[in-house]
Amino acid sequence: MNIKDTSELEISSLLEDVYRKYGYDFRQYSEAHIMRRIKNRMTLSGIEDISQMQSKVLNDESFASQLLQDLSITVTEMFRDPEFYKSLRENVIPILKTYPFIKIWHAGCSTGAEAYSMAIIMQEEGLYDRTTIYATDFNQHVLSHAKEGIFSNKLMKEYTANYQLSGGNESFSGYYTSDSDNVIMNQSLKKNIVWANHNLVTDSVFAEVHLILCRNVLIYFDINLQNKVQKLFYDSLINGGILCLGSKEGLRFTDLDKEYSELDKKQKIFKKKY
Ligand SMILES: C[S@@+](CC[C@H](N)C(=O)[O-])C[C@H]1O[C@@H](n2cnc3c(N)ncnc32)[C@H](O)[C@@H]1O
Repeated sequence: MNIKDTSELEISSLLEDVYRKYGYDFRQYSEAHIMRRIKNRMTLSGIEDISQMQSKVLNDESFASQLLQDLSITVTEMFRDPEFYKSLRENVIPILKTYPFIKIWHAGCSTGAEAYSMAIIMQEEGLYDRTTIYATDFNQHVLSHAKEGIFSNKLMKEYTANYQLSGGNESFSGYYTSDSDNVIMNQSLKKNIVWANHNLVTDSVFAEVHLILCRNVLIYFDINLQNKVQKLFYDSLINGGILCLGSKEGLRFTDLDKEYSELDKKQKIFKKKY
């Protein structure tokens, strides 16, 4: 037997084992995503069938941790989709300015590129001192990376271009110090970011927040799980709060579609109705 013959039942049983032993619940992630990642791991590790994989997951914690990395795609970048950040500056910042203090939640923050981008915008808008950014992920490995705020020097050309396209007018290199290999983000950006481990599938509502960004995360969930997580976001947002999703994500086909108005349809920015 190989992955081509792998049945839904076998995958379900593997995911059940992962959940029971390690508490990570991938049972409602999209089947196509799970299949792709498991197939990839089997090839890389020379595993022939699911039962062999199952036994490795149960008996080898470092393999299980590798599988967790595989299943939680962590690709990210600063000012990812610059047009989105441009719209955020134009359509969301004016609303945030009306609040005496601002709470922002980045759900599925990966290595923190998105949270640092937001800290830069809030600093430029003179709002950062009254802002708290909660940046959460269920993957401890990326969270530790995020907290350090260290990124490869090689990424800075692309990040600088993104920043400028998003409407940034400062010198982007002023936001970090660099050595020959890496850059480290300024302490002034880190100071109001709270990094926390939070699993969107199994953990509960976050504090009442004014803005939620959950971009390029729900795309990996099936529709039932998307609905569940959308309910979590709805319950976490204040009335009039803003929800930002990724370019391939949306509220259509979810139960809460009618509970939001569109601030920018193309950039997937929504406002919770009063
Ligand atoms: C593709 S990255 C997106 C990062 C960032 N939001 C962006 O758009 O650049 C997806 C992130 O979601 C996280 N993630 C996946 N499932 C999650 C869950 N159940 N709870 C919390 N985070 C999750 C992954 O660990 C990963 O860091």
